[in-house]
Amino acid sequence: MNVLIPADTIRERLDALAIQISQAYEGKPPVTVVGILNGCLMFVADLVRRIDLPLRVAFITASSYRGDATTPGKLVIHDGLLPDLKGRHVLLLDDILDTGKTLTRVVSHLIDLGVASVKVGVLLRKIGRQEVPFEPDFIGFTIPDKFVVGYGLDFDDEYRHLPYIGVLEGKE
Ligand code: IMP
Ligand code: MG
Repeated sequence: MNVLIPADTIRERLDALAIQISQAYEGKPPVTVVGILNGCLMFVADLVRRIDLPLRVAFITASSYRGDATTPGKLVIHDGLLPDLKGRHVLLLDDILDTGKTLTRVVSHLIDLGVASVKVGVLLRKIGRQEVPFEPDFIGFTIPDKFVVGYGLDFDDEYRHLPYIGVLEGKE
C-alpha cells in the first residue's frame, strides 16, 4: 500500500476546511450535515468535531451497482435514516467525487425533499474522470486518477479503517 495522504496531513486539512465551513454558516440558521454512507464515516466524524456552530448530523445511503458492458450502473438512494429536511440548510458530505453521478443524484434528491439550501463538501476530488459537470463548495484534496482506499474509502468494503489514504497496489 502506497500512502498518498498521511493521517497528519488529513488532520491539518480538516482544520482549514472546518474554518472555511464555519465562516460560510456563521450567523445563519443551524446547518444539517448529511453524510453519504459508508464512505463518509471518518470524514463526517472528524469534520463535525471541528465546527463550533449549532448543527445536526444525519445520514443517507447511496449504493451504486456497477452495470455490465451493456447495462448502465444504477444508483439506489435510501433516505430512511434522514430527519425531516424540509426548509433546512444542508451540507452534504461525501468521501470522493469521481464521475460526479452520485453527488448529482443525491443533491437532486435533497432538493425534491424540500431543503432550503444544499452545499457540498468532498474529502477528495479525483481528476480526469468526471462525467457530469458538478462543482463542490468545499474540497479537501485533489488527487490523480488512482484507486484509493482508507479513511472511509473501501475496496469491496475492506480498508475503510485505515487512518490514511493509500493507493491500492494492483488497482493502479
Ligand atoms: P461517483 O463516480 O462520483 O458517483 O462516485 C461514486 C462512488 O464511488 C464514491 O462515492 C465512492 O464511494 C466510490 N469511489 C470512487 N472512486 C473511488 C476510489 O478511488 N476508491 C474508493 N471508492 C471510490
Ligand atoms: Mg463507496
